[in-house]
Amino acid sequence: MADQLLSTVSHHSSLPDTYVRPESQRPRLHEVVRDANIPTIDLGSPDVSRVIAQVGDACRSFGFFQVVNHGVPVELMLAMMAVASEFFRLPPEEKAKHYSDDPAKKMRLSTSFNIRKETVLGEQEQHMAVNYYPKCPEPELTYGLQAHTDPNAVTILLQDPKVAGLQVLKDGKWIAVNPQPDAYVINIGDQLQALSNGRYRSVCHRAVVNSDKDRMSVASFLCPCNSAVISTPEKLVGDGSPAIYRSYTYGEYYNKFWSRNLDDEHCLELFKSQ
Ligand code: OGA
Ligand code: NI
Repeated sequence: MADQLLSTVSHHSSLPDTYVRPESQRPRLHEVVRDANIPTIDLGSPDVSRVIAQVGDACRSFGFFQVVNHGVPVELMLAMMAVASEFFRLPPEEKAKHYSDDPAKKMRLSTSFNIRKETVLGEQEQHMAVNYYPKCPEPELTYGLQAHTDPNAVTILLQDPKVAGLQVLKDGKWIAVNPQPDAYVINIGDQLQALSNGRYRSVCHRAVVNSDKDRMSVASFLCPCNSAVISTPEKLVGDGSPAIYRSYTYGEYYNKFWSRNLDDEHCLELFKSQ
């Protein structure tokens, strides 16, 4: 296993073949919009109703926003990144001890080329991914993380404060989410799209790599427990707006999500009411 960990190798002169995407699936980095940032919301603002309105707008339009003045000291955010970086700099044999492709394990090291397609058993309400994207000699040919939506309810992402890589799909264009050192990126996952009857959007996003710098991010995924029934609230269903999705349990959804490829159609499409 250890020799398969890309994070171990300090630099490659070309991209390993297994990572090269077919022409039609490449990131087309020159087309990415870099100056249309997603909204940043100041959670410290005394005007609470305005903050609520801003969050609602962001959830309906981008499905993504950044928050500042969230109460987590920036030193703590940097310390989290420092611990993550320390882990990825460990000798490969040390890291490999934590490797597992079992998604039910509480703590594990995993890597992009062997995500097992299988069902998960057991409750979970939050899980955290510490993502490490090595710098890449040919970033035009591959992804750090291919386009996907998050299957959970809400995701809180701590981005590398210095290295950009996260991009969000909006009106057919990829928009770069520029890092702000003191901000968290918040995005709506599939469950809030379902619970809001499609008003709040779980949008496609991806992480690209670059040839200069490694990048890290820490994602906290807030999830319903597996037995939770996801069903459109009656208040949101009326004559003109029927329930878009049928009721299901989060467990059912999660299994379906991981049995598909990450870049298939939006998983919620499979849960539409007839
Ligand atoms: C994720 C994700 C983006 C990033 O882990 O689901 O979208 O910038 N990460 O690492
Ligand atoms: Ni994601």
